[in-house]
Amino acid sequence: MISACDLADLPPGESVRIQADVPIAVFNSDGDLYAIDDTCSHQDASLSDGWLEGCFVECPLHAALFDLRTGMPSCLPAKKPVRTHVVLVHDGHIYVDTSSHERTPVAEPVEASASEAVA
Ligand code: FES
Repeated sequence: MISACDLADLPPGESVRIQADVPIAVFNSDGDLYAIDDTCSHQDASLSDGWLEGCFVECPLHAALFDLRTGMPSCLPAKKPVRTHVVLVHDGHIYVDTSSHERTPVAEPVEASASEAVA
């Protein structure tokens, strides 16, 4: 389990890059938290520097869109998915479980959302 940041430090529409065995990008999409591998599967861009559009992030280098729920690209030039990771919130702090990642393009349930965590 990797510590990301305090929930209060990741408001809706924002992202943060954390260092694990590989860099991980954590996003707050309208209160729902998602974590994916930070490095685009096309080339070497940081997806945490991309643009968040609902549950998609647009790569800042060549504009491939990745679904944060599944890691699947929805347009070229990226053809391969990025791994998704389970996000947990405990006592107002965000953690990412990198041991739970999927290498195959299978949707991962989001364990906790920001709205659930503060309820
Ligand atoms: S590096 Fe992400 S689309 Fe090319």
